[in-house]
Amino acid sequence: MAAHVYIADIAHYEGQEVTLRGWLANRRSSGKLHFLQLRDGTGSIQCVLFKGDFDEETFKRADHLNQESALSLTGVVKKDPRSPIGFELSAKAMEVVSEAAPDYPLGHKEHGVAFLMDNRHLWLRSSRQRVILGVRHTVVKAIRDFFDERGFTLVDAPMFTPAACEGTSTLFEVPYFDLGKAYLTQSGQLYGEAAAMAVGKAYVFGPTFRAEKSKTRRHLTEFWMVEPEVAFMDLAGDMELAEQLIGHVVRTVLAKHRQELVSVLERDVTKLENATPPFPRITYDEAIDRLKTARPDTPIKWGDDIGGDEETLLANMFDRPVIVHHFPAEMKAFYFKRDATGKYALGLDVLAPEGYGEIIGGGQREEDYDTLVQRIRDAKLPVEAFDWYLDLRRYGSVPHAGFGLGVERTVAYLCGIHHVRETIPFARTMERLKP
Ligand code: 4AD
Ligand code: MG
Repeated sequence: MAAHVYIADIAHYEGQEVTLRGWLANRRSSGKLHFLQLRDGTGSIQCVLFKGDFDEETFKRADHLNQESALSLTGVVKKDPRSPIGFELSAKAMEVVSEAAPDYPLGHKEHGVAFLMDNRHLWLRSSRQRVILGVRHTVVKAIRDFFDERGFTLVDAPMFTPAACEGTSTLFEVPYFDLGKAYLTQSGQLYGEAAAMAVGKAYVFGPTFRAEKSKTRRHLTEFWMVEPEVAFMDLAGDMELAEQLIGHVVRTVLAKHRQELVSVLERDVTKLENATPPFPRITYDEAIDRLKTARPDTPIKWGDDIGGDEETLLANMFDRPVIVHHFPAEMKAFYFKRDATGKYALGLDVLAPEGYGEIIGGGQREEDYDTLVQRIRDAKLPVEAFDWYLDLRRYGSVPHAGFGLGVERTVAYLCGIHHVRETIPFARTMERLKP
């Protein structure tokens, strides 16, 4: 029996007999020769079936197989300069593992995005989606490697939480036994802070939830976030950590996926090559000035969120991600430490170039007990729900900082994908819960 090999490894088997297993992506025939395009998840290859090598029934069947039929094909690997991968299979035997139904919804024609999203479970099989899944995998691994190599400990935060972390307007409520209600976590940060006081350098990595009523290209209701948190780190250290992380992720993705980013996703990778630290740093005030200068008629004023179009306008002034820091204190969540004047929150946002938006948000945390209690009250949050968090300020409080990086927006930036719904295997938005 010939050895089973993957298409990605085919170059090692020139002249040898092998078995390939996969799905029928396409086929055509010249009568005596059938050409079956086989996809196995690692690549795609043309398999040529010559009439003289097969019994009549099998040969006829090969010309009537429906798209996505699962096949096992055995034959000899031949060099072929016309093939995009340089090889084809000269098939000698075919086994139909299972014949696909004739009505595969994603045939070889153009489909609208809504239809594709309805068929996301099948759309994942396209070469474009396979590349995106691969990049996402590399991004997650690069993030973990980055922190692991720097002595961070991965600490998992709970999904069910007793209180809001990022404002009460985007909370998902869940009934929770006799305890009343729980909320799906908006961010693992508060738990990351507890972990940092235990292990020094911690990171939380998992899904987070926001009841976002915005239907923008950058918002999901469920997304993945990595959140490092470091004891004795200040805002300056936080900025360095953020740019180092992004630099590492971009480098790793380019090293592994450059070719398919270009050929399958048509990504202009020169745009990514610049993303090396140090990143430019501007204050929020400077950002507002720049926006007003660039677009004198902009309605934005000091104290407003820099959102959507303005974020893009600002980011396009730089050739790599830009760090915006020192925000008006009122704009930011209760846990931010403020500068000496009290006017600014020691926060940072990292904006990706080309309109992919804010990929990182974070900053230095308020470490003083009394100040923090007051901030929780000012934010009209229930102080009782935060008693455990306040303990961190009672028992050995230290300056500390961290941030959250959104995986989907990062993948969108790397792949050059307009909408984040394509960067997560099964997107959840206000209007989508299926498949
Ligand atoms: O700026 P955000 O809201 O920050 C926090 O949640 C902090 N607690 C993180 C921390 O300091 N540990 O969110 C952080 C990042 C954003 O920059 C963005 O990349 C992503 O999470 N993000 C979203 N991604 C997709 N859909 C949404 N609705 C998102 N909301 C935030
Ligand atoms: Mg933010």
